[in-house]
Amino acid sequence: ISGVITLDPGYKNSGACKSEITFLDGELGILRYRGYSIEELAEKSHFLEVSYLIIFGELPSAERLVQFENDIRKFTLVSEEMKIILDGFPRTAHPMGVLSALTSALTAFNPKSVNAENEKEMYDAVCKTMAKFLVIATWTYRKSMGYPLNYYDNTIGYVENFMDLMFKLPTGPYAANPVVIDALDKLFILHADHEQNCSTSTVRMVGSSHAGLFASISAGVSALWGPLHGGANQAVLEMLEEIHKSGGDADKYMAKAKDKNDPFRLMGFGHRVYKNFDPRARIIKKAADEVLNTLGVDDPILAIAKKLEEAALVDEYFVSRKLYPNVDFYSGIIYRALGIPTDMFTVMFAIGRLPGWIAQWKEMRENKEPIGRPRQIYTGHPLREYPKIVS
Ligand code: SDX
Repeated sequence: ISGVITLDPGYKNSGACKSEITFLDGELGILRYRGYSIEELAEKSHFLEVSYLIIFGELPSAERLVQFENDIRKFTLVSEEMKIILDGFPRTAHPMGVLSALTSALTAFNPKSVNAENEKEMYDAVCKTMAKFLVIATWTYRKSMGYPLNYYDNTIGYVENFMDLMFKLPTGPYAANPVVIDALDKLFILHADHEQNCSTSTVRMVGSSHAGLFASISAGVSALWGPLHGGANQAVLEMLEEIHKSGGDADKYMAKAKDKNDPFRLMGFGHRVYKNFDPRARIIKKAADEVLNTLGVDDPILAIAKKLEEAALVDEYFVSRKLYPNVDFYSGIIYRALGIPTDMFTVMFAIGRLPGWIAQWKEMRENKEPIGRPRQIYTGHPLREYPKIVS
């Protein structure tokens, strides 16, 4: 092999690209989208405004934001034939698997958006993806419940539509609690992008072969599904419920997590980049307290989560490995308080991460990045002769 190949499993020390979208500092716990801190954006902005910022690089004017929302509304109808694909799934299918399949199927019904060759096509592809992904994401829940599917209501907001699409009954409009909408808006903002995480790198890798936007996003959904990545938010709740059912014995699970012979990991803890704290976890933990208090929800799971965090903060195993709660540790507790079913938690992550995936794909294509093709260190057999079968 000409030149030197640096082996770097998991790309722990490799930079795959240059990007202007998100800056994060793992030591200082800093996360900024296009230079704005997530603390400010979570406090003062809204999800569609942050989506516009991440995708197009600047905060929109008031008029431009209204135009963006109206342009999304042009594409909120999903082809009726998509329902035939949805009907083919068993109700027990995991929503992330259904979402990945339906997202890829969008290509068949929207071929013009496949490669977004010019600025107008790119803009329409962005609006189409923001519009249709939200609808099909909620269809995975409606399908799992055997409920009739809902349509996007162009008279209400994007985040309001999420609750409407999920929970509206045929009898009439769904009036979401403003506290719920505000909490969801903040959660989606906090999930919107995170530089070259596993699923975003997947979107860039698939897009680098000039596969279309929907196909690339579909691959990102599959990567996010894994319990080491976005699937962790579901695994955290399942873990906390298990601890609760076994009498709240957090120490037993801490011991399991530290046992090298036990594959169990404390879900929601640790991060490849953040080595002191995940700034999103701090904001979400505070929001969890506020939302549960405002909604009058007394969830014993929250107390167990705080007990685990306190125990890990002083435990040599966790401290020496710099393992702290990450974005997934507290988010599930809020989703549960909002009435979102556990197997939809990672779909929530995907809805929040969608603008980041779109922005990173768009940047990769506009920068004309080369096709992704890493090398390897070969450790297999040296040359050997083909033996006759008699031997
Ligand atoms: C997300 O990259 C991103 O930005 C992702 C994300 C985003 O916004 O896109 O932030 C979202 O995916 C958050 C992470 C969600 N995953 C989990 O909560 C699953 C549990 N966490 C781990 O599996 C782990 O911490 C990772 C996957 C998050 C990070 O893994 P790394 O960086 O590859 O670290 P590692 O597996 O090499 O662990 C280093 C050491 C090991 O011990 P030793 O071999 O040194 O003895 O720490 C241990 C690990 O065994 N360890 C844990 C642990 N996480 C790491 N031990 C117990 N419990 C854990 N949670």
